[in-house]
Amino acid sequence: IPVNQEMIAELTAPPFVPQPVGNRLAKKLIVDMEIQELELEMMNGVSYLYWTFDGTVPGSFIRTRVGDEIEFHLKNHPDNKLAHNIDLHAVNGPGGGAESSLVAPGHETVFSFKTLNPGIYVYHCATAPVGMHIANGMYGLILVEPEGGLPPVDKEFYIMQGDFYTKGQYGEPGLQPFDMQKAIKEDADYVVFNGHVGALLGDKALQVEVGETIRLFVGNAGPNLVSSFHLIGEIFDKVHVEGGSLINENVQTTLIPAGGAVMIDLKVDGPGDYILVDHSVFRAFNKGALGVIAATGPKNDRVFKGKIQEGIYQPEGGIIQKMPGSGTAESTEPVAALSKAEKLEKGEHIYARTCVACHQGAGQGVPDVFPPLAKSDYLNADIDRAIDIILHGKSGEITVNGKKYNNVMPSQSLDDAQTASVLTYIYNNWGNNGTEVTEDMVKKVRL
Ligand code: HEM
Repeated sequence: IPVNQEMIAELTAPPFVPQPVGNRLAKKLIVDMEIQELELEMMNGVSYLYWTFDGTVPGSFIRTRVGDEIEFHLKNHPDNKLAHNIDLHAVNGPGGGAESSLVAPGHETVFSFKTLNPGIYVYHCATAPVGMHIANGMYGLILVEPEGGLPPVDKEFYIMQGDFYTKGQYGEPGLQPFDMQKAIKEDADYVVFNGHVGALLGDKALQVEVGETIRLFVGNAGPNLVSSFHLIGEIFDKVHVEGGSLINENVQTTLIPAGGAVMIDLKVDGPGDYILVDHSVFRAFNKGALGVIAATGPKNDRVFKGKIQEGIYQPEGGIIQKMPGSGTAESTEPVAALSKAEKLEKGEHIYARTCVACHQGAGQGVPDVFPPLAKSDYLNADIDRAIDIILHGKSGEITVNGKKYNNVMPSQSLDDAQTASVLTYIYNNWGNNGTEVTEDMVKKVRL
């Protein structure tokens, strides 16, 4: 293909990757992706509302070479509820593209970048609440091959680890909503490869032949946990440390930071199941981080000899035991009520810490995504409703100052005094009606 010609990028769903770039010249590559919010199975009997790039977790694999000019088309499916964007770690530019790609449902955004640094890079959504968008599955990998391409191998696979936070504990059946508090505490219910428990097990195990050269592109989305990535029964011949140009050899377990990736080259020396795990091992056997590379081919007694017992290294489930007396004690200390001046001061700090990311510095909000708190008819019309939104969050369509919003605000986990303070601050600024909210008013709504 001649230089400068445009090419539509081949994109693949995990665990597969597009054709290698080989020795083609740099060119303009058009990447077309669509964000889809979908209810999918987390494990047998458990479903989850995933937010995805192209309908899979992780999203489509993008394969480029250094010097390519990428024209990125990001669509947000019209049935989606939320605005999204994309931050690609392969980008040299503001927000990794996130600052140029915020897109509302039913719309498309376009931005361009040149791939300057070879390596394997994570991409993810970076719309507030950022952690929630990643936790719900909005991530994937983009490979930038060096000039001339990576050394050829027989088989390549795409794997990505992610941690999930659900209201119910591991295995609790039904549609499980996202749990913000567990996410903040980094207390994952599920830690999985490729978005689901068992995505690389049984008939979905990665199939290889003994002696084939295998390359794994392995990313870790987090949002919280660092992976101690390990293959039970084999040794990684080569690891591109942190996905960069440094190659380490003969590695047993490689660290993959949240928001990082590695390239691993290996060969399996005999037939059997080789088990991929996060070697923080409760995650593997109790939270889902298990996969299999299934190798067929001739036995090699020179390398390994012994009887084979099936059923070693099985998932063990996640029965969580509460230790007696481990509940958190509520403070019963009486506290003097705050004056209005104290609430205004405290409220300003709380606003700057927790609300500003979405509602912006002067309460002006973000068009189509985050409603304004400045001169908000919605806010001024109903104080109890505003308190309820802070305590419990809000989703679904609302109309503020004549404009419709349909998004998700997480509950803010503020105590009564903090809630009273931040609302008093908002009601007494930016043209609102001057209400003073008391702790008693908050208590009544909390009950
Ligand atoms: C809606 C207050 C933090 C996203 C609202 C509303 C209020 C409010 C009063 C009702 C609509 C209006 O009057 O404009 C606050 C306060 C916060 C806070 C006091 C901090 C303590 C956040 C954060 C986010 C967020 C951090 C984003 C992660 C939203 C969204 C809506 C909303 C998306 C509309 C929900 C819907 O479409 O149903 N907020 N908010 N808010 N807020 Fe917040």
